[in-house]
Amino acid sequence: MCASISGFSKLSKSKKIDWIVQTYFSNAEDAKRILKQYWNTNDKLQQLHDEFIENTITNYYLPLGVAPNFSINGKLYTIPMAIEESSVVAAASKAAKFWMDRGGFKTKVISTTKIGQVHFIYYGNPETLKSYFNHIKPQLIHDAKPITKNMEKRGGGILDIELRDKTDDIKGYYQLHASFETLDAMGANFINSCLEQFAKTFKGEALHFDAFTEEERDIEIIMSILSNYVPDCLVRAEVSCKVDELSDDASISGEEFATKFIQAVNIAEVEPFRAVTHNKGIMNGIDAVVLATGNDFRAVEAGIHAYASRNGKYSSLSHAKIENDIFSFWMEIPLALGTIGGLTGLHPLVKLSLELLHHPTAKELMQIVAVAGLAQNFAALRSLTTTGIQQGHMKMHLMNILNQFGANEIEKSALTEHFKSKVVTHSAVVEAINQLRMIN
Ligand code: HMG
Repeated sequence: MCASISGFSKLSKSKKIDWIVQTYFSNAEDAKRILKQYWNTNDKLQQLHDEFIENTITNYYLPLGVAPNFSINGKLYTIPMAIEESSVVAAASKAAKFWMDRGGFKTKVISTTKIGQVHFIYYGNPETLKSYFNHIKPQLIHDAKPITKNMEKRGGGILDIELRDKTDDIKGYYQLHASFETLDAMGANFINSCLEQFAKTFKGEALHFDAFTEEERDIEIIMSILSNYVPDCLVRAEVSCKVDELSDDASISGEEFATKFIQAVNIAEVEPFRAVTHNKGIMNGIDAVVLATGNDFRAVEAGIHAYASRNGKYSSLSHAKIENDIFSFWMEIPLALGTIGGLTGLHPLVKLSLELLHHPTAKELMQIVAVAGLAQNFAALRSLTTTGIQQGHMKMHLMNILNQFGANEIEKSALTEHFKSKVVTHSAVVEAINQLRMIN
């Protein structure tokens, strides 16, 4: 049944649930029981989660796993990962262990500049607008002082504001394109507050600028918002070793492995269908750490995919080469992350994850997240170019299939043993469960 409702947001949580279960579920009591099963018994903790978003009816759990043995610039980390997909944490762990024995991951923050824009419409003389902008720029910065003063004390703030003419794209369209340093904060609220103040000053002061005609004074602000595209907030992660150190398996030499691996990366560099899946593998690692540390994975995803298309064609984020008998595999990605503000001080598991990572600065977290992405990519490509992905992935997925069929602990342990030497496929698992149940 479909139904609409007015005033839903004003109802209590239990009234919201009553309405939902009675309107949409054939078995209202059963639906209610499932929703309640996921509530935390600690009322304060539950309330904290209820208040993260609006119209909360329950909690949606994701497992929080850890991948140990990450050596990053000589320091060892165990990386927290919040993700629902089997084999991702195992793959990260395997890649971490592999590279720990070969010099570890090397990382570098290249830049940390974030961007925000005031989009506006002006149909007058562009030269007059330019002189108004030059005249008003110091006041834009000055009027934002109440917002920027604390950030400035810590060493951040507004870096610059430019006037950008976009009238080739849309008639009358201009931007105030501003850059910011937000240090350990992701900076969304800070940037948006600055932008809204710029817009207010820019529109208001135009009324008193003598060189404008009456029409020119009427600047129309369309919107003021940060950009999640941060090509100047860049981090690099890299691994390298001698080619012959790459093989830890007698079935393939280091050189064979490296050559095939580099071909796989080259394919992702030129072929968008492959690049999307290749980068999805990278995002397996990135999103999981971004989520575990309370950052905005939608912003990170959007920014990284835009970066992957920066040359006009969607392409691989990672690259690989052999030079002087050294295999290197690396990636540069834009990442706007925070280790203060937002959920970082609120969500108990986020606080725990940040402590596990030795309370990183935003710059350190950028490096850890980039490493998780590169490790994930390495593990996936290693499987793809050797055993094929299904072997390892299905090995990890076995437990999900067993749970789907309600396997008990004895069945789980018998079937895990059984599949140690067999290929896991959905149908093979179903067959094995049925056989086991027939015997018992
Ligand atoms: P394996 O060699 O069978 O594992 O690999 P192992 O049992 O020999 O153990 C070796 C190490 O792997 C362990 O060391 C762990 O570090 C890790 P240890 O802890 O024993 O000292 N490991 C585990 N960690 C935690 N829990 C486990 C576990 N098992 C092993 N249960 C593995 C198995 C899955 C790791 C390997 O086959 C692999 O890396 N596969 C790649 C899996 C992958 O990429 N999954 C992502 C999902 S697929 C996808 O979405 C992306 C893709 O489309 C991207 C693309 O196309 O590029 C593939």
